[in-house]
Amino acid sequence: MDAASDALKIGDMSDFKFLKGSEDWWRQAVVYQIYPRSFADSNGDGIGDIRGIISRADYLKSLGIDAVWLSPHYPSALADGGYDVDDYRNVDPRLGTLEDFDEMIEQLHRRDIRVIVDIVPNHSGSNHVWFQEALRSPKGSPARDRYIFRDGKGENCEIRPSELVSHFGPTAWTRITEPDGTPGQWYMHLFAPEQPDFNWDNPEVREDFLKTIRFWSDRGVDGYRIDVAHALTKNLANGHLPERTGYDLSLVKHDGSDDLFDRDEVHEIYASWRKVYNEYDPPRVAVAEAWVHANRRARYASTEGLGQSFAFDLLGTPWNKKRFHSTIDYQLKAAAENGSSTTWVFSNHDVIRHATRFGLPESALSNLPAWYRSADREKQINVELGFDRARAATMLVLALPGSTYLYQGEELGMQEPLNIPSEQMQDPQWFRSEGSISRDGCRVPMPWTSTGSSFGFGPGGAHLPQPAWFKDVNVEVQDKDGKSTLNLYRNALRIRRDLLCAEEIKWVKHPLAADVLHFKRPNGWQCVTNFGTKPFKLPKGQILLATKDVVDGKLPANATAWIK
Ligand code: GLC
Ligand code: CA
Repeated sequence: MDAASDALKIGDMSDFKFLKGSEDWWRQAVVYQIYPRSFADSNGDGIGDIRGIISRADYLKSLGIDAVWLSPHYPSALADGGYDVDDYRNVDPRLGTLEDFDEMIEQLHRRDIRVIVDIVPNHSGSNHVWFQEALRSPKGSPARDRYIFRDGKGENCEIRPSELVSHFGPTAWTRITEPDGTPGQWYMHLFAPEQPDFNWDNPEVREDFLKTIRFWSDRGVDGYRIDVAHALTKNLANGHLPERTGYDLSLVKHDGSDDLFDRDEVHEIYASWRKVYNEYDPPRVAVAEAWVHANRRARYASTEGLGQSFAFDLLGTPWNKKRFHSTIDYQLKAAAENGSSTTWVFSNHDVIRHATRFGLPESALSNLPAWYRSADREKQINVELGFDRARAATMLVLALPGSTYLYQGEELGMQEPLNIPSEQMQDPQWFRSEGSISRDGCRVPMPWTSTGSSFGFGPGGAHLPQPAWFKDVNVEVQDKDGKSTLNLYRNALRIRRDLLCAEEIKWVKHPLAADVLHFKRPNGWQCVTNFGTKPFKLPKGQILLATKDVVDGKLPANATAWIK
């Protein structure tokens, strides 16, 4: 075997304390994201709910995860899949009651599974009492000051205040009708019109979110995922309004002075949240969804702030050894610099499932909307290749220091369902971007069984159409199959739990096998991934797990093995 090289020291063994119940539980946790409306439906109305989650608590336990992260469970008009929150301190009646929520926490905690909920602070839903009050109240009133209302330009204020484009397209301004029936002011929404942006200069807004995080922490919630964490504070001073179009990171400034995103003062908010989180024992954890330049991520992950920040680098990384190597190095170093641990993410409720992405040619991967619009998009997917690479990629990151976020359904090796007719689409991005891409595919309800009207999702139908191939891709089938992806995930998480050690890796170089990525953890746990096309002779040791059969000691292409 080649000599080990490039020691990369992440954290210090001496203060390593991965103990159950310790404050550091999150550092190398496996967090399973549940999109509640698509997980399990207990009452047959086609919408997944809290009692559905409770009914699957043993399943969650069988996976071996450390925590679940629930996408928003709050009352919502569902203009953006629940990310339009109408009441931050309640449960959507379609999902259940606060009592159901409490029972869910208890059932999951009893199984050693922690619970992370989603906080959506950039905007509320348009049915939020505050926004409704703002609509009823006059221009310049305290109620309007909780949001971002401005007069339009032009003689009759008929021209929108700026050319700002919403993330979902086209414009970020919507004009209201004043209480007296006349056309009135405009309000800003970085997302859909049903998602008015809060004014974070308003002290009432700040107070209210502190109340919200106390409310859920008091109920036993262990952590928070903070939606669009980089957008809260905006520079709208002196009547200045951003003109820039889009939500494109290449346009965002790197130095905290951008008008819209990642402004330095946003961290004052998170510092105040951290104080509240630290009032609890154990302290509550938080992870930022911050689409910022990688060199700015550390601020969100600081111990005085949220503590951890999503790294989305792997979402766009093609199946390429060099690219994986540099991304991993970068992420580990960046997280270590501020005492946090990194996060590994391949799939979530916003992106095309990674089993499908890895089956696409690189050209399609670099322009997913173009691929999505193309008439032959399904023909471009190499399903088998995508499946193999997705499994290999996930096993690779599970062996790395840091926490891994899994998304419901990926444990089945699930492809993106692509058969949803336009009239059944729900994603505002689909409608407001004229069909360039939809996030509904990854939100199709979970298949639990081979038969039944919604493949075991619930006793009724499903709120998005499920593909016929779910009869072969579901929990029931894979549960019985020792070689299924479901059992691969279960084995991996079980083995991993015993192997977790200091947050450190050492790369092992193979000059004669340029497409092999190989690293070691301090306790001798090794991970080898074959990005190439030829089988690779594995180093000596016990094979703990392999995503494809190892023949004559050789790891096939597009596969990962763990060795000790
Ligand atoms: C985040 C969510 C996404 C939502 C958006 C607006 O990016 O992950 O689903 O549409 O914020 O809240
Ligand atoms: Ca239901």
